[in-house]
Amino acid sequence: MRPLVVMVKGMETAYFTNPNLSAIKNRFDDALEELVLEKLSDDEAPAMSLARDILLSGGKRFRPVLALLAHEAAGGNDDSMIMDLALASEIIHTATLIHDDIYDQSKTRRGMPTLHTSHGLSHAIIAGDYLFVIGFSLGGRYDNIIVEKLGKSAANLASGELLQFEHVGNFSTTPEDYYAIVDGKTAGPFASACACAGIIAGANNQIINSLETFGIEIGRAFQLVDDLLDLTGAPSMGKPRGTDVHDGKMTLPLIHALTLLYGPEREQLEDILNNFSDDRWQELTVLLNKSNSLEYVKQLIKNHINRAIDSLNTLPDSKAKSMMMEIAKESQNRKL
Ligand code: IPE
Ligand code: IPE
Ligand code: MG
Ligand code: MG
Repeated sequence: MRPLVVMVKGMETAYFTNPNLSAIKNRFDDALEELVLEKLSDDEAPAMSLARDILLSGGKRFRPVLALLAHEAAGGNDDSMIMDLALASEIIHTATLIHDDIYDQSKTRRGMPTLHTSHGLSHAIIAGDYLFVIGFSLGGRYDNIIVEKLGKSAANLASGELLQFEHVGNFSTTPEDYYAIVDGKTAGPFASACACAGIIAGANNQIINSLETFGIEIGRAFQLVDDLLDLTGAPSMGKPRGTDVHDGKMTLPLIHALTLLYGPEREQLEDILNNFSDDRWQELTVLLNKSNSLEYVKQLIKNHINRAIDSLNTLPDSKAKSMMMEIAKESQNRKL
């Protein structure tokens, strides 16, 4: 029997309540744990010791679970064909989180201190780089088309993050700017995971395109929910609320409120955003309610989820497809 890695106590992640979905997540977690153990017992041990806590501390595993389901929904029936892609998507994602937390100056992630907080900047940069290397080595085992898609989505993620910097504190940011950022930093990686899963399953182009659309739309919804949670969330998220506001990030609820409010209220909102501190939550909440911005974003989330679900019409009915639809529907209610 293989030894168990001491699981790290981060946040509680009972994200998937459906037992069939938790079983898929557990299958993925076993594969990840096995990989971590393997690396801990060879000459990569120093780097993996650094990265292991955040890897095992309980992410929702949204991307790998979707990759496993998309593969099955597209006709794939051999887990061993898809697991490396699932691992690559989660490990690359975790690498981006480590680096994202550095430039967002975030103190907690997955219920634990961020790596740069606990181990210092240099170590966090190396841990992130190391995870990128492992992720791309796993992805590099596939055909060129997959390698290119994974590479392209990571490159677009970098562009999305850079675009976001350009718009920090810019009150003229438009919804189009916002979606360009989100498509790069969040929706693209979801889309590539789902589309690559279809390619690995040997699906036809129509199905691959549908899976890509599913990934884009669920990824957009996912980021919009994340942006709402930044304004309304609780500590159970594993990261504090308000980071976006402190960082001057132009998320859609704020863009909407800035567009709708005028006169003294618009001036007050600009002042709150320019000089934000925790004692201004109440003021901010009153203004967001006045402009109905949270409701507006909730409606958009529903639209993206409906589009994601509709895109699956071209796939034959299956248990995996139903679970993808369930994940899409449930994602609007997530609190983590
Ligand atoms: C966080 O991703 C970054 C966003 C794109 C919003 P997740 O919310 O998937 O983070 P984990 O993996 O569950 O920690
Ligand atoms: C993270 O975006 C996107 C990445 C792909 C790293 P955010 O900066 O909005 O996500 P959180 O709020 O830190 O999780
Ligand atoms: Mg960020
Ligand atoms: Mg961040």
